[in-house]
Amino acid sequence: MGESASGLAIETSGLVKVFGETRAVDGVDLAVPAGTVYGVLGPNGAGKTTTVKMLATLLRPDGGRARVFGHDVLHEADAVRARVSLTGQYASVDEDLTGAENLILLGRLLGHRKPAARRRAEQLLEAFGLAEAAGKQVKNYSGGMRRRIDIAASILNTPDLLFLDEPTTGLDPRSRNQVWDIVRAVVSRGTTVLLTTQYLDEADQLASRIAVIDHGKVIAEGTKGELKASVGAGAVHLRLRDAERRPEAERLLARVLEARIQLDPDPVALTARVGLRGDGAGAAEQASRALAELARSGITVDTFSLGQPSLDEVFLALTDRPAARTGAPENEANEEQEIPA
Ligand SMILES: Nc1ncnc2c1ncn2[C@@H]1O[C@H](COP(=O)(O)OP(=O)(O)OP(=O)(O)O)[C@@H](O)[C@H]1O
Ligand SMILES: [Mg+2]
Repeated sequence: MGESASGLAIETSGLVKVFGETRAVDGVDLAVPAGTVYGVLGPNGAGKTTTVKMLATLLRPDGGRARVFGHDVLHEADAVRARVSLTGQYASVDEDLTGAENLILLGRLLGHRKPAARRRAEQLLEAFGLAEAAGKQVKNYSGGMRRRIDIAASILNTPDLLFLDEPTTGLDPRSRNQVWDIVRAVVSRGTTVLLTTQYLDEADQLASRIAVIDHGKVIAEGTKGELKASVGAGAVHLRLRDAERRPEAERLLARVLEARIQLDPDPVALTARVGLRGDGAGAAEQASRALAELARSGITVDTFSLGQPSLDEVFLALTDRPAARTGAPENEANEEQEIPA
């Protein structure tokens, strides 16, 4: 698999990229363990693509250092290129060719003989649910199919490190789930994945560690659990029977929990972030006090849950503004994805 001595696939320190007045990447430190999915989470213009392009040797850093499997991206660019592959917000496949033609052509460019290239193309088209579309020109693919052929093209040779730049932006929930399964399958084969996303639930689903970036800077980094814990002990989610009682419930919860209450888009739902309090009451104890108070006031609670805060809440706590929303429903059931070697 080839890890650097540190066991890190990517190491950056003080990485900088400036475009005119814009410090697109403004001193980024990253340490990405090999063999994992690492999430880089940030809103539009945060500097995600610029960071990825520097790591993939497509853009020269203006400051700082970056190593990929121990190789400097500037001075050992060839060694880096030999280990990485990238799919992104930019095209890698030819629109006028069919899915199969694209993969065979790319396989040939990678040095495979024609029968081997054809076999690999067939395997990948099958694994990515594109067997039926193999003979169609890529320009006629749907967004989800297009994203899948892009990823297929980037793993023709199993790379040690795969950059996926917003692989599911604009996809419907079903296509998103298919891409997620592909990412899981790719990482289970030993490839390290650096995934950028604007979607908190995507990072939550796929990544072991996450860096939150905003205005070119890492504003938080850690495992999902660490990030969530940094925001508070937990989050209480409530759904009321009656939407009209929500303002009253909000005031009551704010008083009892001494917490910031978030009004969810669902008109009967509220979320309260519960921190550790001076009197040492844990999240569960505080939540049960709050429920008792609501009952005393005659406010009926239909459903209640106590969980770790969502990454959405993490982003709100870190930046004082909400992150991008997916609007996508919960996970659907999925078939297992097998990626042939
Ligand atoms: N080639 C360029 N020339 C000038 N400015 C650029 C260039 N590329 C990026 N920028 C600017 O750098 C900043 C970071 O852009 P970047 O594309 O890295 O953000 P991003 O996090 O990938 O955003 P998105 O989620 O929209 O893809 C933005 O302000 C962007 O306008
Ligand atoms: Mg981008």
